[in-house]
Amino acid sequence: MFLTVENIHAYYGQSHVLQDVSLHVDQGELVCLLGRNGAGKSTTLKSIMGIVPAKQGKIQFNGVDITALPTYRIAGCNICLIPEQRGIFRQLTVEENLKLAAYKGSRWSLADIYRIFPRLQERKRNGGGQLSGGEQQMLAIGRALMNSPDLLILDEPVEGLAPIIVEEIVEQLKHIRSSGVTILLVEQNLEVCTQLADRHYILESGCIVYQGDNEAFKQDTDVKDRYLGVGEQTQAV
Ligand SMILES: Nc1ncnc2c1ncn2[C@@H]1O[C@H](COP(=O)(O)OP(=O)(O)O)[C@@H](O)[C@H]1O
Ligand SMILES: [Mg+2]
Repeated sequence: MFLTVENIHAYYGQSHVLQDVSLHVDQGELVCLLGRNGAGKSTTLKSIMGIVPAKQGKIQFNGVDITALPTYRIAGCNICLIPEQRGIFRQLTVEENLKLAAYKGSRWSLADIYRIFPRLQERKRNGGGQLSGGEQQMLAIGRALMNSPDLLILDEPVEGLAPIIVEEIVEQLKHIRSSGVTILLVEQNLEVCTQLADRHYILESGCIVYQGDNEAFKQDTDVKDRYLGVGEQTQAV
């Protein structure tokens, strides 16, 4: 297995946020992590990256134990997290943002990024701060690709974006995935999850309460009702 998270526990001070979380992502897979606000999704990603280190349990990537490594070493294993805040430089142009992230020997060139995200090419001389939310997200993903990730982790990439932009980003993620990048996606938009993912996990109060493949998940309205509050009555998937 590519990424394995085994029985991890994580805390903010005394607050025991992750309580025995286990999940795995195989090479080439796209896996979704779902759950209500406050469930611990972002914290799980931060634990994988060593930003909120796991106090117990074990995280392995490509056979290497990364549980206790500092974040820069984890990033050096070609794991790239795009946080909710996206982390682009607002004062730099689109192209400067991309070039800054360029990594010697990366599989992705500037031209590749512009091919996947034509909007970024159109906006290449604009400042990061002048972009729409959707374009900022595309830039964040483009920057991450310039770093040549083996595992790309995204935290709610389409939150707050207009449906037409969401569709665009979904297509771009499909393309990125089909070119061999393994993806772990935290997302609350069920339609996005079921369009993209091979498998799903649901977190609730710091515990994994469900896991299933995409077909099983799509049909299980009960689980959506119970843990996500969006059964068939409220949202068709
Ligand atoms: N920096 C922090 N300090 C203290 N508590 C935090 C911090 N960040 C998140 N939390 C708490 O940890 C829990 C999980 O948060 P988070 O992982 O951000 O959830 P999610 O991403 O699923 O919405 C929540 O109860 C949240 O209030
Ligand atoms: Mg979050």
